[in-house]
Amino acid sequence: MLRALLGAALLASAVAQAVKGSRSPLIQALENAPAEDEARSILGPHLKDMKTLEKEVVELVVMRQWWTLARELVSKSHEQKVDLSFSVRKAVRSLKDEADELLRTLNPNYGMAQQVSPAFQWAQNDTSIFLTIKYTVRWNAPGALEVTDPSVNMTGNVFNFSGLGKHSNNKYKYFLSINLFDNIEAQLSNWNAASVGKLSVTLRKRWARKWPRLLSDKKTKVSNMHMWMEMQEKLDSSLSGFSSVSNSPITCAAGGKLYCVATDTCKKSENCSQCPGKTEANEEVHLCAGKPSEKASLTFQDADMDEHQLSGEVKIHKARNDFDVDTYAVFWGKSDTAKLENADGKELLLGEVSALGNDLDLMIPQNSPVPEGATHLLVFSRNAYGEYATPGSLLLRDAALPKAKPGGLTFEDEDGGKDLVRGRITISRAADEEKISEYSLHWGRSPTRKTSQNSFISAVRKEEGKDVSHWLSSQKPPEGATHLLAFSKNDFGEHPSPASFQIVDKTKACISQNEDSCPQGVQVTADEDPQPRQAKAKVTFTAAKSEEKIDKYRIFWGKQPCSNDVSSGAKNGHIRDVRKDDPPEVELAGPVPEGSSHILVFSNSPNLGESDFCVSTPFQDDQSAKSEKEL
Ligand SMILES: *[C@@H]1O[C@H](CO)[C@@H](O)[C@H](O)[C@H]1NC(C)=O
Ligand SMILES: *[C@@H]1O[C@H](CO)[C@@H](O)[C@H](O)[C@H]1NC(C)=O
Ligand SMILES: *[C@@H]1O[C@H](CO)[C@@H](O)[C@H](O)[C@H]1NC(C)=O
Ligand SMILES: *[C@@H]1O[C@H](CO)[C@@H](O)[C@H](O)[C@H]1NC(C)=O
Repeated sequence: MLRALLGAALLASAVAQAVKGSRSPLIQALENAPAEDEARSILGPHLKDMKTLEKEVVELVVMRQWWTLARELVSKSHEQKVDLSFSVRKAVRSLKDEADELLRTLNPNYGMAQQVSPAFQWAQNDTSIFLTIKYTVRWNAPGALEVTDPSVNMTGNVFNFSGLGKHSNNKYKYFLSINLFDNIEAQLSNWNAASVGKLSVTLRKRWARKWPRLLSDKKTKVSNMHMWMEMQEKLDSSLSGFSSVSNSPITCAAGGKLYCVATDTCKKSENCSQCPGKTEANEEVHLCAGKPSEKASLTFQDADMDEHQLSGEVKIHKARNDFDVDTYAVFWGKSDTAKLENADGKELLLGEVSALGNDLDLMIPQNSPVPEGATHLLVFSRNAYGEYATPGSLLLRDAALPKAKPGGLTFEDEDGGKDLVRGRITISRAADEEKISEYSLHWGRSPTRKTSQNSFISAVRKEEGKDVSHWLSSQKPPEGATHLLAFSKNDFGEHPSPASFQIVDKTKACISQNEDSCPQGVQVTADEDPQPRQAKAKVTFTAAKSEEKIDKYRIFWGKQPCSNDVSSGAKNGHIRDVRKDDPPEVELAGPVPEGSSHILVFSNSPNLGESDFCVSTPFQDDQSAKSEKEL
């Protein structure tokens, strides 16, 4: 049998060489030799100079197992100092391999992959289970670098994996079948074999909650299953609000019972009546079932600025325990609870979204008309048993800009300071006040354009049917501001054109020392009243050169003289005002405020008040009467 096998092998190699067409006449002759004796005759003439012999000749002799001839060749090679060891060893190794392979074939299982259970580790977050399967039996042992024909099947709570791999000259079939604690969503689960030596798997839990363990059966011991600590530590934050559940439809089914979600307990099917909100026994999925019992909520912002039209994304925010919700249905509502119906009594559905996805969005296309009577968007939780009666709701807000600008804007600067303005801004109500929630006041660089920087002044609440106003405290308008602007505004934006008012910066008289509008000087006669702190004297002042901005002069006692600085702080009590057309003099007769050492004269401008600067003269209180008494 061995011979026959080798013969076949040789034939095969001869065929291979024939294809190559490189066989020499000597090799061909040897191949055709029926036995060792003939071979010796053929080779005889070539043995005198073995250096010229092809390597293949020696190999062929060994492979044909002409052992005597082979030994003759080797001893001749020693005499001629030719090294045949490479060819001889090569041929012998090949023969030996064939023989070993033959012996291995005696094992009926030889050539079949050995099935082993691969080591794996797992971790979880609220929604997912993470598995890493290593192509080795023990986690810390080396294993196959890759597998061929990887196959993963998932249904219900079962995860199966198989793949073929080679390691240390052995073939393995890695097969893992695990029964999980709870059901998974196969379509939302995924796996990939991209990393070296392992398979990464993410299983999506049917119900987002913390599992107490990976496997359905508490008692199952799997020696090469490990907790994936490093990963779990990272994921623990997302699980912080969760406590582990105790049961699942799978664990209840094992005891012939049905699962009640609300109480996390297993019940006999006739006891589903005691499962809050889920009183219908569903043996097929091992669940006390019923309509959803939690509502979701909605957010939406209309992106369509046309009135009576909507567009944009309605975002549905799941109820925390939306375990048994299959879809969320969004309706037009006529209140925060009731669906709007059309003339035929049909409810107006905007759309229905599967509860499985991560982002539950419903697109409302551009220019979608708002049905007559629609005031709300409503979202209902649904499953095979029906719809939860209470919807999540959202008041519809149709985005539209204000339709009219304010009726007008007035302002009078009451701050006499240069480049400073202050005063009441009055905004006349808009002709159409609907859609206006407030007016926004801005500094303008023209009657229509805001200043490029710091334009915003204030928002002023709209008051239905009324003009409104804003008190502008004393301030310097920003660079380039020439106007005040008032825009009609609501949450969606501003009406494009404003009401405007050109700013006139009013300045009062004598806003710097020695201006033409400052009084030119003041004198006072000697005090004629010897009583302490009593005066009798005459003040005479020289009026300003330019009296255009002046209506009167204001005379004060002073506790210090006027200076080159703002002098309002020098005042120590008002004496009298003198209209600009009256003679510029004042009779002092009466008490002198304590600490008075000067007489001060200020200019005054109508509405804007008295000047910051003044003129002054010293005043000496005659106290001789008091002195005599004391002496
Ligand atoms: C998973 O493997 C187990 C054990 O071989 C088998 O009984 C079950 O049918 C397999 N399930 C799937 C979904 O392939
Ligand atoms: C998955 O299912 C297919 C089809 O039933 C089967 O051929 C394959 O062996 C299964 N793989 C595993 C890992 O169970
Ligand atoms: C849990 O893991 C899944 C899959 O990686 C991820 O989509 C989800 O956001 C994770 N949950 C949290 C709360 O981070
Ligand atoms: C079913 O209900 C009965 C009556 O309330 C109770 O005695 C029994 O313990 C319940 N069985 C289960 C499995 O909940």
